[in-house]
Amino acid sequence: MILVTGGTGLVGSHLLCFLLKKNERVRAIHRKNADIGSVKKVFALYTSEVDSLFNRIEWTEANITEIPALTAAFENITRVYHCAAFITFNPSKYNVLKKTNIEGTANIVNLCLANKIEKLCYVSSVTTLGSNLHNQLITEETPWNPGKKNSVYTITKYGAEMEVWRGTQEGLDAVIVNPGIILGTSPDGGGSSVIISLAAKGIPFYPSGAMGIVDVQDVAKVMINLMDSETKNEQFILVSENITYKKLLSKLAPLFGKKPPTKKLSKRVMLFLSKLDWLSNKFFRTKRRIIKTNVRSMFSSSLYDASKIKNELGFQFTSTQETLERIAKESGKASN
Ligand SMILES: NC(=O)c1ccc[n+]([C@@H]2O[C@H](COP(=O)([O-])OP(=O)(O)OC[C@H]3O[C@@H](n4cnc5c(N)ncnc54)[C@H](OP(=O)(O)O)[C@@H]3O)[C@@H](O)[C@H]2O)c1
Repeated sequence: MILVTGGTGLVGSHLLCFLLKKNERVRAIHRKNADIGSVKKVFALYTSEVDSLFNRIEWTEANITEIPALTAAFENITRVYHCAAFITFNPSKYNVLKKTNIEGTANIVNLCLANKIEKLCYVSSVTTLGSNLHNQLITEETPWNPGKKNSVYTITKYGAEMEVWRGTQEGLDAVIVNPGIILGTSPDGGGSSVIISLAAKGIPFYPSGAMGIVDVQDVAKVMINLMDSETKNEQFILVSENITYKKLLSKLAPLFGKKPPTKKLSKRVMLFLSKLDWLSNKFFRTKRRIIKTNVRSMFSSSLYDASKIKNELGFQFTSTQETLERIAKESGKASN
């Protein structure tokens, strides 16, 4: 039986659907207040048999930071897909990030070892890789740069990877995937859906940076293919295209009957706004919206080379246009 963590999230929900369609037996953990029913929204994108697929999941309540319930969730498990993580760039959440992403992953790794799990697939991020020098593409070999101003999220995702590599030294077979920004419909409308809703509103501004993107369906497919393969103790960048924010928003806008953005955002203005945002949070306890590390990444270009996974599995990524057209339709806001 397969164990999936993060099944109520963007990656986990699509992965669950693909595993069930492959007739796998699946147990998924969820936290106490999680809305497991929201996963059905994602299943409905793939099948009309939503309830019969959903009812085949053995849901069990467990937090990856709480060992007793997590230990019970490992009973009769042979393979583990670890997608759960806390995603925020807010520096004030560093302790929760460390607890969930590093300690939570250490718990998963330890239970994999204790239960002699055949193989673990861990979802990391391209952000754990180093920076590109002289416009070279970043590969799996580009070393982590501790001197860089890494976000608190990135630091904890890197720490989590170290726990997985530690597990492999202790005898665990594992694969790590490092996706870029994942595009897809999420059960809770979060994640990359924010970029889609901005485009749907016809936002006239764009930041000057570029990023690696990937379709959520490709992420789930690669994870399953890697787990079914002989490959072990390797990591793989999952990026279908390196794209500027301007190009991405310009491809999205017409799908919603809007005009592409024409006004370049100023980095200095955004950094100033992030200071105001920080002050407002300090004095009026408002929610952080413009975080400095996010602003920096919106104005920088990190470009990735995904040839390792293409060569390993012969995998072809979905084209950006196909992904965006599908997601626009799924959002129900696309213009005809
Ligand atoms: N989204 C992206 O663009 C992106 C890009 C690169 C890498 N990644 C990585 O991909 C993975 C999946 O991301 P996602 O976008 O699917 O995230 P997501 O939609 O935010 O979902 C996060 C999942 O983690 C679960 N979770 C959080 N804390 C937990 C805890 N303490 N115990 C158990 N479950 C917990 C959540 O469960 P609840 O329902 O209980 O909240 C939810 O199912 C993450 O590792 C993320 O770092 C994401």
